[in-house]
Amino acid sequence: MSARARIVGWMLAVVGLALSVSIFATWTILLARLDDRMSLELSNEAEKLRRYAASARDPATGHMVTDVEELLTGYLAINAPDRWETFFSIIDGKADRITAIPPPVRLDTDDALVARLARATRPDDGEVESARGTVHYAVIPVTVRSDPRPGHFVVAILYDRHRDEIADAMRVLGISALAALALAGAAGWFVAGRVLAPVRLVSQTAEQISDSTDLTRRLDVPGDDDVAALAATFNHMLDRLEHAFVVQRHFMDDAGHELRTPITVIRGHLELMGDDPRDRAETLALVTDELDRMNRIVEDLLTLAKAEQPGFLDLHDVEVADLTVSVVAKARALGNRRWRVDEVAEARVPADRQRLTQALMQLVANAVRHTTDDDLIAVGSAVRDNRIELWVRDSGPGVAPAERERIFGRFVRGAGRTVMYEGAGLGLAIVRSIAEAHGGSVRVTDAPGGGACFVMNIPMWDLWGASDEPRPRALTAEMGPVRVACGHGGGAGEPDLDRRG
Ligand SMILES: Nc1ncnc2c1ncn2[C@@H]1O[C@H](COP(=O)(O)OP(=O)(O)O)[C@@H](O)[C@H]1O
Ligand SMILES: [Mg+2]
Repeated sequence: MSARARIVGWMLAVVGLALSVSIFATWTILLARLDDRMSLELSNEAEKLRRYAASARDPATGHMVTDVEELLTGYLAINAPDRWETFFSIIDGKADRITAIPPPVRLDTDDALVARLARATRPDDGEVESARGTVHYAVIPVTVRSDPRPGHFVVAILYDRHRDEIADAMRVLGISALAALALAGAAGWFVAGRVLAPVRLVSQTAEQISDSTDLTRRLDVPGDDDVAALAATFNHMLDRLEHAFVVQRHFMDDAGHELRTPITVIRGHLELMGDDPRDRAETLALVTDELDRMNRIVEDLLTLAKAEQPGFLDLHDVEVADLTVSVVAKARALGNRRWRVDEVAEARVPADRQRLTQALMQLVANAVRHTTDDDLIAVGSAVRDNRIELWVRDSGPGVAPAERERIFGRFVRGAGRTVMYEGAGLGLAIVRSIAEAHGGSVRVTDAPGGGACFVMNIPMWDLWGASDEPRPRALTAEMGPVRVACGHGGGAGEPDLDRRG
């Protein structure tokens, strides 16, 4: 069932229930009132008759009435019945007179009833069924001392007519309630339709988008209500989706391109390969080289893919000082540079030592690639603001400010490349993935005295979450004055650790 039908259905059910309850309550109250009114009316009549009898005089003679028939006839003549009401008198067991106004119901013609009523010795009332419905009656015995005949005065009220009147009113009420309900239903249907129209638009658009590959469509819902907010959220989601798709497509294009190049190279060499053993050996070396390159690209892509999944990091307590020194030790094999350890943080962090080493080695490899013999490459670590900073700086050409964000992208190589080399532009993307997996970040700045300084920033405690376990503390918990990364002295005058690779 549509939301519109549900809203209107529930509204009608609730309003209908409320109306029925109030109509039923009114009906019950009116009926109870009617009963009260009826017994009051009957006792009123008895009282009026009593007062009349006490002072009734014959209009002709002016004497007290001595005849019961004369008394009742006189009373009938002056007392007009209400609507749906009639009076009659019984004299000596027989119906005698009825009121002059045509009665709504005749009880005086029912001899058996008259005989029964005539037996009453005390005022009495009751109900009797007549041809025109239920009749409430009261019978009042009347005696005159000088007349031996028993007299009775009977008041009869046609109860059903009064009830019918109430029923009529209820019917009108019911019909107007139904009309009101129908009106409310129509109005509700209209309003719900107006309110839900944008929701339908959202669902239609979502459907069209999922049916096609067009992610550029957006919803246009003006206003600032809930539905507009929904549309805004939806549009925002589409923005992100579209962006993700574009990024993914570029990534696929780039990856395909990067892998196709070595394949083309390999194929070309193999096609041109002759029978000469020297030529073959040369081709084999080239092909192996290209295959190695492909392998590296595939490895890097796998690392990047893994970095987006849980379980990428294998966390242990890592001694930062030890890590720093061991990276320099490994790096020396990469080239003949002035290698140096700037500073080491005497701290332990929860981290993946292998991944951090991988990231630092990427940075070191880049530094080697952008420097020449006797250039300086320094590695360092420090605790700053409860975070560990790990850096690699060099005295090479540095990174132009305009490129500093861009070079961390996948397959992005800097514009100022001079040396021909085979990097695919994935190295810094991997460094960033590793830093971010640790809850940190990486940036590049100027190294003091020129060159590039790449700084990884790793939080010290965040990774352990909210557990009650004592968090691994920095051994050097008291931090010295905050220093700018790479900004402590620039190394001039400090002894180099080693000048040889
Ligand atoms: N130490 C550095 N000095 C100057 N430029 C650098 C340095 N390290 C990286 N870059 C720039 O960043 C780019 C991206 O580096 P990277 O992601 O490692 O890819 P690749 O090394 O394959 O080119 C490099 O092409 C280079 O232009
Ligand atoms: Mg690189």
